[in-house]
Amino acid sequence: MGIEFVDLFDQWASSYDETVSGHDPEYREVFEGYEEMLQQLADLSISPVMEFGVGTANLTRKIIDQHKVVFGIEPSKEMRRIANVKCPEAAIYSGDFLQYPSLMTPVSSIVSSFAFHHLTKEEKEQAIERFFHQLEPNGQVVFIDTLFKNETHKQQLIMEAEKQGFLNLAQDLQEEYYPYLEELKEMFLQQGFEVSCKQLNKYAWLIQAKKGE
Ligand SMILES: C[S@@+](CC[C@H](N)C(=O)[O-])C[C@H]1O[C@@H](n2cnc3c(N)ncnc32)[C@H](O)[C@@H]1O
Repeated sequence: MGIEFVDLFDQWASSYDETVSGHDPEYREVFEGYEEMLQQLADLSISPVMEFGVGTANLTRKIIDQHKVVFGIEPSKEMRRIANVKCPEAAIYSGDFLQYPSLMTPVSSIVSSFAFHHLTKEEKEQAIERFFHQLEPNGQVVFIDTLFKNETHKQQLIMEAEKQGFLNLAQDLQEEYYPYLEELKEMFLQQGFEVSCKQLNKYAWLIQAKKGE
């Protein structure tokens, strides 16, 4: 469920860090300011932290460096292999946003970067409902991901990517499940979160959703 992209991530794992550091012109703007964005997310996280879609553990490394406890979840075997080398201190489990080993205790933060868009709208709703139960009172979800302000904005970004000859990016923007800003906010509000969103680069947004007491 929601992990149809796993083969692709197994193949991408060995060159993933090159992509996010701007080597691939097609995805340069998507990951512009990557290290700073992840640092901001790490700074906002409160221990114990649950992280979904760990990838090569770039965010995990920053959180662990702040002496916080992280339970990481990652569906791709190849990504987990690299993550375990980069961040042996973290506990990284096989799983995804909807199926993962159960934790006995609630967590203070649930974090994720560039992964939530792999879920369909219905799967996002299910996942958000679970986040609410997994978090302790006053806990928070802090995500970074690509989203669209609305349909016009989506079409504009697709057109710009096509004009630049970035056909893989244009296809991603059409086929993956990037949400619309208001739709995403509404999903969190429906589950009882207070939510705020802030744009970080042309594509990426910081999403903060706080559970009340
Ligand atoms: C673009 S990478 C982001 C990795 C890392 N968080 C970062 O910021 O560099 C997306 C990650 O999400 C993982 N992923 C894909 N589908 C997922 C799902 N349904 N649940 C959790 N993670 C998923 C992929 O395997 C991949 O490691």
